[in-house]
Amino acid sequence: MQIITKIEKMQQISDSIKVSRQSIGMVPTMGYLHDGHKSLIKKARENNDIVVVSVFLNPIQFGPDEDFENYPRDLERDAKICEELGADYVFHPDKDDMYPRDFSTFVVPGESMTNVLCGVSRPGHFRGVCTVLTKLFSIVRPDNAYFGEKDIQQLSIVTKLVSDLNLRVNIIGCPIVREEDGLAKSSRNTYLNDEERKAALVLRNSILEGKKLIDSGEMDTEVILKSIVNFINEEPLAKIDYVEIVDFDTFEKIEKIKDNTIIAMAVYIGKTRLIDNILVRI
Ligand code: PAJ
Repeated sequence: MQIITKIEKMQQISDSIKVSRQSIGMVPTMGYLHDGHKSLIKKARENNDIVVVSVFLNPIQFGPDEDFENYPRDLERDAKICEELGADYVFHPDKDDMYPRDFSTFVVPGESMTNVLCGVSRPGHFRGVCTVLTKLFSIVRPDNAYFGEKDIQQLSIVTKLVSDLNLRVNIIGCPIVREEDGLAKSSRNTYLNDEERKAALVLRNSILEGKKLIDSGEMDTEVILKSIVNFINEEPLAKIDYVEIVDFDTFEKIEKIKDNTIIAMAVYIGKTRLIDNILVRI
């Protein structure tokens, strides 16, 4: 496995892979890889000739008060994990090469997709995500790119990005990987102390509480939301950013549960903002 840091070098490698008619599977990440990322790399390995994992902590998707500076990093460990999983390349560009001083072109997703859920408390976040992914796709030219359903709004926005801009890559969504007790794996879980780690279970458990109501026949989203919110508010360390029940494709709020509905939430546990969701199928 090779670690590539230069954009031009990655482009040359991708060009020669294309000439040899091999397929490229790409897993875009910000590093500090955990089992969630690993599941994407494994999927890419199964279905492609060549696997490229990008490890790039993208500054432009972080707000000024967010955790860019403190975000955990460990390239050596990440590279070892990628190698063990059979990746062929780790692409780890320098941020000054990705965004030189005169960089001025951004890819902005439509407002209807960003004025809900995470887009509300993270203005500019998805513009940063779409811009970096357009660049990464253009450099690596993957046939298939793998994304986690954990970041469900990101998955949906990226699917739309690729469709709207005719980018020639298939976007493949992969299920959420969880800790044994149900907490969704996240690089940000490392910020939690022991007490917060226990409190963090409130995300998953409140979603299951809502799911239980649906399974028992309750279809009124207001009733379900109220029950979820009450459940979370019983946890003193938790502070809700949002809890929403929306249509998976349009992100529009809905009044009655139907097929392809997501229950999505972002909750602060202490200072750490965590997200979780469930896709409800009827
Ligand atoms: P990052 O947070 O590193 O996540 C990389 C990929 O791993 C994303 O597709 C995310 O949904 C997936 N992932 C994270 N936790 C997961 C879990 N518990 N189960 C399944 N998949 C999981 O998302 C980003 O980076 C960035 O926004 C990026 C797309 C790389 C653009 O900078």
